[in-house]
Amino acid sequence: MTKVDDVLNGALRKTPLLATEVAYRGVTQRFAIKFEQDGRTGSVKDRTAVGLLRQLHRECPLTPGTVVIESTSGNLGLALARILTALDCKFIAVIDPKTPGPTREKLMATCAQVIVVDETDGLGGYLMSRLETVKRLCAENPDYRWPNQYGNWAAPEVHELTTGPEIVEQAGPDLGAVYVPVSTGGTFAGIANHLRNVRPDVAAVAVDLEGSVALGGDPGDRLLPGIGASRPSTFVRPGLYHHAVLVEPCEAIAVCRILLEDLGLALGGSSGCTIRALVADMAQGLTTLLAVCLAADGGGKYLDTVYSDDWADRTGVREDVDLAVKRFRNEGLHCGWR
Ligand SMILES: Cc1ncc(COP(=O)(O)O)c(C=O)c1O
Repeated sequence: MTKVDDVLNGALRKTPLLATEVAYRGVTQRFAIKFEQDGRTGSVKDRTAVGLLRQLHRECPLTPGTVVIESTSGNLGLALARILTALDCKFIAVIDPKTPGPTREKLMATCAQVIVVDETDGLGGYLMSRLETVKRLCAENPDYRWPNQYGNWAAPEVHELTTGPEIVEQAGPDLGAVYVPVSTGGTFAGIANHLRNVRPDVAAVAVDLEGSVALGGDPGDRLLPGIGASRPSTFVRPGLYHHAVLVEPCEAIAVCRILLEDLGLALGGSSGCTIRALVADMAQGLTTLLAVCLAADGGGKYLDTVYSDDWADRTGVREDVDLAVKRFRNEGLHCGWR
C-alpha cells in the first residue's frame, strides 16, 4: 500500500450512533444521532475529503508539492487541509464571511493559503462568488487541482460506501427513516443510494434550509452555514428522496438549544435542522420504530453563533428563537438519552 492510500484510509473513521428519544405533542419517537463530530477533523466532510482525494489521486497522483484548491464553507476545508498536509501537498481554501470563526482560525493555521470571498452571489450566500474565484485561480494556475465537491461523483460514492452501510448496520432492523442535511447533496445521495439497494423500505428524508435552492425553490438569505446552497444539487434528484423537509432557521436554532438543555450535547446548526425535520414529521403522524438523524458536525464551532444570545441579537433573530423555544416546550418537546 502506498503512503497516499495509507493516509487516505487512515482519515476514515467509523462514527457512533447515539441512542436518544424525543417526545412531542404526546408522541415519543426513538431516534439515534449519527455523530459525525467523531470524524478525524470533527465532521462528515472527513469522508467526503477522502472520496474526492482518492479520485484526484486516481486521475493523476498526488505528490509532494501538489496544490489543491477548493471552495468550502469550512468543514471540507479542515478535512482536506489535514490530509494534504500529511501528504506534503499544499491546500488553498476559498471560504466566505459565514465560515465560523473557530473554523477559519484552524484553516489559517493548517492551509497554505486561505482566501475569504466577501462578495455575495445575490442568491442568499457566497457560493457562486467562491466558485468564480476558484475557476479564475485555476485558469491562472493550470497546475492547481480542483476536486469540485459540487460536481464530483466521488463525493456521493464515498458516502454510499461508508456512511450509508454504517447507519444500516448500526441501526439494525428497526430502522425506518434517515434524516440527512443537504448542501452539495453528496452525503444525502450516497446514503440514499445505499438505502435504495439494501433497505428500500427505509425513508431517506432530505433536509434543507429555507432560502436554499439545493432541492429547488426560491433563493433567499441563509442564516446557518454548512446546510443549503445557492445552486441546485448535482446529485439529488426528486426520485432519490422519500420526502424533503425545508426548515426555518430560527426553529433549527431553537432545537439545537433544547438538545443542549436536555442532553448536554451541542450539535451544529444543520443537526438542529435534521432533528427539527424529524419533529415536523412526528407532528404529521410520520413516525417509525427508529429514525436516524445525521449530525454532520458538533456545536463547538457555533458557540458564538447558534448558541449565542449576543449573536441572535445582532442578527435580529433573538425574539424568534426565544419564541420558538417557548412554543416547542409548550408543545411538549423534550429529548432524552436511552
Ligand atoms: C455541517 C455540514 N456538513 C456537511 C453537510 C452535508 O453536506 P453535503 O450535502 O455537501 O454532502 C452538511 C449539510 O447540510 C452540513 O451542514
